[in-house]
Amino acid sequence: MLNIILIGPPGSGKGTQAQQISQKYHLKHLSTGDILRQEVKNQTPLGLQAKAIMDRGQLVSDEIVINMIKNFIEETKNTNGFLYDGFPRTVAQAEALHKMLMQKKQGINAVLFMNAPDYIFIERLQKRAELEGRSDDADIQVIKKRLTEYYEKTFPVKEYYEKHHTKAFYVINAAQEIKKVFEDICKIIDRL
Ligand code: AP5
Repeated sequence: MLNIILIGPPGSGKGTQAQQISQKYHLKHLSTGDILRQEVKNQTPLGLQAKAIMDRGQLVSDEIVINMIKNFIEETKNTNGFLYDGFPRTVAQAEALHKMLMQKKQGINAVLFMNAPDYIFIERLQKRAELEGRSDDADIQVIKKRLTEYYEKTFPVKEYYEKHHTKAFYVINAAQEIKKVFEDICKIIDRL
């Protein structure tokens, strides 16, 4: 059972790479952003609560996200493993995941840190706003808020894994073209 985490700022290419990785290695793609957007679309109580927070570029509460993840993992049967995209995003979420995996006698095989300068992320998200119209990409102030949230709350998660899972921690050059980023990631997964 593989457990692989993709961590990086908004626009670093987590979702893009996650789709290709999960397909190639038959992993269950677990994107907390996608799950939340589906809740918003279905106008569930959780979705209605989450929408305002997401549209401001802030993080949804740990309690909501951790419960969502627990349900997702419990409901998923017959898989080679999980690819976590956009989770964990706070140290509390990382600790909760650690506990869940310990209970299942599993560990984290790789943490892939998507690294590139911020201006690249901003350019990509502004371009996506024109193409796909995702509501949290439309306003530059919201994009900046997402980056601020990332540096305040998620960058410490990167440091947590660098410290506690040093051998499983890999830095990916996310500024390259999509195909090249994928090749670099495959070289790492193939060695796991
Ligand atoms: P989420 O959906 O996770 O959004 P995000 O982290 O802001 O990430 P993005 O989807 O914007 O970027 P990405 O890194 O996946 O890049 P992508 O591949 O899409 O979260 C949305 C919101 O939900 C959060 O703000 C928060 O409110 C809430 N949330 C989610 N998880 C949470 C959690 N765990 N806790 C609390 N709240 C949570 O690519 C972006 C664009 O760039 C695309 O157009 C793509 O085609 C392009 N692109 C990708 N790679 C390349 C490349 N190498 N070269 C050129 N273009 C590229």
